[in-house]
Amino acid sequence: MSDFASRLIAWQKSHGRHDLPWQNTRDPYRIWISEIMLQQTQVATVIPYYQRFMTHFPSIASLASADEEAVLTHWSGLGYYARARNLHAAARQIVARHQGVFPASVEAITALPGIGPSTAAAIAAFAFGVRGAILDGNVKRVLTRCFGIEGFPGDKAVEAKLWTLAESLLPEAEIERYTQGLMDLGATLCTRAQPRCGDCPLSAQCVARRDDRIAQLPAPKRKKTIPERQTVMLILRRGNEVLLEKRPAQGVWGGLWSFPEVAPEAVLNSHLQTRFGVQAARVAAMSPLVHTFTHFRLTIRVLVVWVNKPGAAAGAMWLDRFDAHGAALPTPVRRLLDLLD
Ligand code: ADE
Repeated sequence: MSDFASRLIAWQKSHGRHDLPWQNTRDPYRIWISEIMLQQTQVATVIPYYQRFMTHFPSIASLASADEEAVLTHWSGLGYYARARNLHAAARQIVARHQGVFPASVEAITALPGIGPSTAAAIAAFAFGVRGAILDGNVKRVLTRCFGIEGFPGDKAVEAKLWTLAESLLPEAEIERYTQGLMDLGATLCTRAQPRCGDCPLSAQCVARRDDRIAQLPAPKRKKTIPERQTVMLILRRGNEVLLEKRPAQGVWGGLWSFPEVAPEAVLNSHLQTRFGVQAARVAAMSPLVHTFTHFRLTIRVLVVWVNKPGAAAGAMWLDRFDAHGAALPTPVRRLLDLLD
């Protein structure tokens, strides 16, 4: 047996959890309900719901014959209601296809609605002593740390590696205790923040501890880097008036009124003269503004151009800067108006 498994089993005996309401039974129904409730919910929250649920639906048959509404009512407050709908549908399938008897093979259990491979293996281990690997979020954390597995555990390739590792570590016997030990260790010692490595039976072999990488493992999901774009906006000012331009219907902020955008090299008097019929008396830079769209991040450099010669430009209008708030404006333009002094 791997050192990993033997240490875990010994630790579970002395330090693991032994008296949870779904333990000390081989009843697959009781175990199944607990594993589904525990998928996204902590033990302490689950316990009272579990006890009430079991009182109302003590058997597969009672769950299968209940109205979906009644099942949802007893789930109310636990969240992720698809779990309740799947439980109900699965109970009906067990009645229809398995003569009301909970199936004993991992394959048949996985075929039921709402049961993935890890939950199926846990149920099969606890109810039937079937030897199989589990790999939920807690187990991923334990394995990535103990074996120094890099990469985000949700990535397909990393997950495949973790399944292979999880399978290679399985003990020949005591699968129930081993499985419970993995869950207990992940929930009580090898926690995401402030793990209690001093009490951990695996600390002597833990790669993350050896390399001081506990805070880095498991690796977080890689953030998508979104493209960066730059633009320059001109705030043409004449006293309290500013020039707004209607943007073309196509493209970013289509049809809204905006400060004119120019290419960085175009902030020249000759350009201002031809495009806006104005001449700059003074130019001042404001702090750049960053605006995040879904697909890119736009950094807007802002130049305030005080003009002395009134001009007219097609598709543009001079507006009092306070009245301009009433126009259809992109958010950054509105922010810039507020920042003007
Ligand atoms: N989380 C998932 N399954 C569990 C179980 N059987 N005991 C405690 N926590 C769990």
